[in-house]
Amino acid sequence: MFKRVGVIILICILSFSTINADQAANSTGTDIDARVKALVEKMTIDEKLGQMVMADKQSARPEDVTEYFLGAIVSSGERMPNRNSQEAWLEVSGSFKKAASSTRLGIPLLCGIDAVHGQNSVYGAVVYPHNIGLGAAADPQLMYELGQATAKEMLATGYNWNFAPCVAVAKDASWGRTYESYGENTQLVNTLLVPYIKAIQENGVAAAAKHYIADGATAWGTGDSGYQIDQGNAAISEEELRKTHLPSYQEAVKAGVKTIMVSYSSWNGLKNHENQYLIQTVLKGELGFRGFVVSDYEAVHQLKNKDFYEQIVATVNAGVDMLMNGMSWQYTIGTLQEAVRRGDIKHERIDDAVGRILRVKLEMGLFDEGIMVRQPATQQLGGAEYRRIAEKAVRESLVLLKNVNNILPLKKNAKLLVMGPAANDVGVQCGGWTLSHSGGTDKESGSKWTKGTTILEGFKRVAEVNGGIITTDVKEAKYAEAVVVVIGERPYVEGHGDDRQLGMYDGTALEENRQAIEAAKATGLPMVVVIVSGRPRNISQEMGAWAAVVEAWLPGSEGGAVADVLYGNYDFTGKLPVTWTDIQGSGKTQPTFPYGFGLKMNK
Ligand code: BGC
Repeated sequence: MFKRVGVIILICILSFSTINADQAANSTGTDIDARVKALVEKMTIDEKLGQMVMADKQSARPEDVTEYFLGAIVSSGERMPNRNSQEAWLEVSGSFKKAASSTRLGIPLLCGIDAVHGQNSVYGAVVYPHNIGLGAAADPQLMYELGQATAKEMLATGYNWNFAPCVAVAKDASWGRTYESYGENTQLVNTLLVPYIKAIQENGVAAAAKHYIADGATAWGTGDSGYQIDQGNAAISEEELRKTHLPSYQEAVKAGVKTIMVSYSSWNGLKNHENQYLIQTVLKGELGFRGFVVSDYEAVHQLKNKDFYEQIVATVNAGVDMLMNGMSWQYTIGTLQEAVRRGDIKHERIDDAVGRILRVKLEMGLFDEGIMVRQPATQQLGGAEYRRIAEKAVRESLVLLKNVNNILPLKKNAKLLVMGPAANDVGVQCGGWTLSHSGGTDKESGSKWTKGTTILEGFKRVAEVNGGIITTDVKEAKYAEAVVVVIGERPYVEGHGDDRQLGMYDGTALEENRQAIEAAKATGLPMVVVIVSGRPRNISQEMGAWAAVVEAWLPGSEGGAVADVLYGNYDFTGKLPVTWTDIQGSGKTQPTFPYGFGLKMNK
């Protein structure tokens, strides 16, 4: 990934504004095609090229949106407003939107963000389980509900474009982005992406199905940007590409997805960003996609044996309509101008790209919203109603892998020892893409990484009202009936999570896992092991000594809900969305657990 260097910007204080003549005229139109055509005809070449570029809010000021006619801004990764509050986010999005509205044609701005498990960049917003857990839950109605809630929390901070859902079909758990995928099965991915896209778009936010295409099929050792597998090469036949990876885009297009983001990865050696066949012929031609195609963050630089000029020309001519060149946006605009002047990018291509972007903005009703007036922060962020949806998602995502002698459900009045490095850490539960690009831990922040309940708090909540006792002190073990050990992975993002070891004590596993497991074992109590991870890790060596094993994935801010299932208030319903394989050195041919595996307590 392009290095994310932050530049501090001045945030303009927002004021009320009025509707200009062009917008007033536009707001009465009904025929979108005609409106697109009329607008494109009115636009100067600079206005058009500006629409095709997305700048990072950290490297562009609101005035730049006015001066360069930028089509979108991205709030990516580590770039949260200094004061991470709803008000601060509203001020940022509002100041940029207002700047767009004061251009000659007042073309409204898209404000894009990775709300990949809730409006996760904003402190206090509800953080849902990462996609892998939702794949285990496999509940389309839940996807609709949490999509709706996510859109509402996005709009409550002024953001109207979500770089989600990731519709990758993940084929290798060593990929650091496995948790961004709903699973390894195309049909499963399709069932979940459709209600999610519908929910967010029906609630006024544009979706971006990503990363086109076969990002989950790259091979270890082929990665880019210094990663091992992320952004690498998918060496697969066209038949396999069409059978396994294309159907999700077909479904997304049918569901009306407004944008599609191209993958950093390559297909058989050619970067997808320059693959005209995949973008123009297949996606726009065969699939009939009418929205617009956006590049990934500064991805153009990865095109091989080309200078920046050639990279931009190749990317746009391959069919990319908007360039997410967050940092190099100004250079990009200059390069586009030169390419058009020299005739290397034709006016028809520019008009097609701009027309697509405008169509999305018109369909979303952004022109008719009235000019960005400051939206008061009345919409509640992190409300109880949304937290209930997240709790349901957590409960449904849990997968029971082992349960000897029916140790689960736990007795609510039992004395239990609850321990392990993932037991009391909201940051670990949330994983990457939480407040910052890579996420973080409660240890790091000195308090809860974001608002929420920990797994330990969930145990205490149930025990307290039922005469149970929860201790976290291993010295108290002799009075306990069982030990619940919560181990897991540290938060990671994208290729930083590439890990081929996948043991419980190496790679992206939490350092304290071993100590916790050994201390729990030494108590002699029956062990209930809960794993907080974005993917299966090898447990077949250790598992024999454990009475019960529960995979909790990355449950997000409402980790307390885990206990409700372990105590039997609900039964397990989650099923593995990926095959659980011991990858390294096990010499095994059979998976530890097959795809779709998941036990119930009450058979
Ligand atoms: C990721 C995308 C993300 C984009 C914007 C990239 O590094 O690959 O998934 O949407 O950044 O944050």
